Amino acid sequence: MPGAETFLASADAYDRHVGRYGAPLARALIGFAGVEPGMSALDVGCGPGALARELAGVVGEAGVTAVDPSPPFARACAARLPRARVLVAPAEELPFADGAFDTTLSQLVVNFMRDARAGVREMARVTRPGGVVASCVWDYAGGMTLLRAFWDAARDVDPAAAALDEGVVMPFCGEGELEAPWRDAGLCEVRSGALVARASYRDFEDLWAPVPAGVGPSGAYCAALAEGRRAALRDAFRRRLDVADGPFELRARAWAVAGTAV
Ligand SMILES: C[S@@+](CC[C@H](N)C(=O)[O-])C[C@H]1O[C@@H](n2cnc3c(N)ncnc32)[C@H](O)[C@@H]1O
Repeated sequence: MPGAETFLASADAYDRHVGRYGAPLARALIGFAGVEPGMSALDVGCGPGALARELAGVVGEAGVTAVDPSPPFARACAARLPRARVLVAPAEELPFADGAFDTTLSQLVVNFMRDARAGVREMARVTRPGGVVASCVWDYAGGMTLLRAFWDAARDVDPAAAALDEGVVMPFCGEGELEAPWRDAGLCEVRSGALVARASYRDFEDLWAPVPAGVGPSGAYCAALAEGRRAALRDAFRRRLDVADGPFELRARAWAVAGTAV
């Protein structure tokens, strides 16, 4: 999926952009998956570690293994969780034995995988029979307020941005669409749901500052614009968000899926 290469940027910029929603979303995903203390848990596509950190809060840091193909993100995750095992690897080639984990999760990753069906098959393979494999992907087309407003603003300024709109181009981002790769991977008792996370901002500048750093497809689009176009995008984004001066909160919805390994 185009966009995966944009995660070679700084973990700090990621945390201040979309990563701001990571911890509350991870808590919702962990609850959805039914992760419990004492389990061994794998986080696939860990990024700088939002989900891995929340998993450590439930199963203990030593119970967490995390992988990401981006070396800077894997390094950031390892620095944040020194007792966890963190490796550089893609979902499609997980360097673990069959049934190695009690549960395998991934947050906001399946849509970026080079071969999502192979990645989910690998997640199922490394999970013990009876263990849960769960993921979530943003509702880019609607309920992810930040990114929906960003792409609506980009299209206001430049109609050609429609070809890059994540609400249009991202696979598996509609309600229930993650169920097909889960069933294809042989997972059973497949179920879907909606997860909601919220993020707080000091003001619009707090929201905008990390965007031109180039993280994620939205950041990469913004970073590639000439200065005048970028200023127009910034103004249109603010109009689309319809936020006043001062603090505000945004709501983001993700579609989740879970299934049981056999
Ligand atoms: C939107 S970020 C999500 C990071 C983290 N899970 C979180 O919730 O903050 C997407 C992540 O997927 C990773 N990624 C891209 N392609 C991947 C693949 N084929 N297998 C595993 N992870 C991948 C990226 O490097 C990036 O860290």
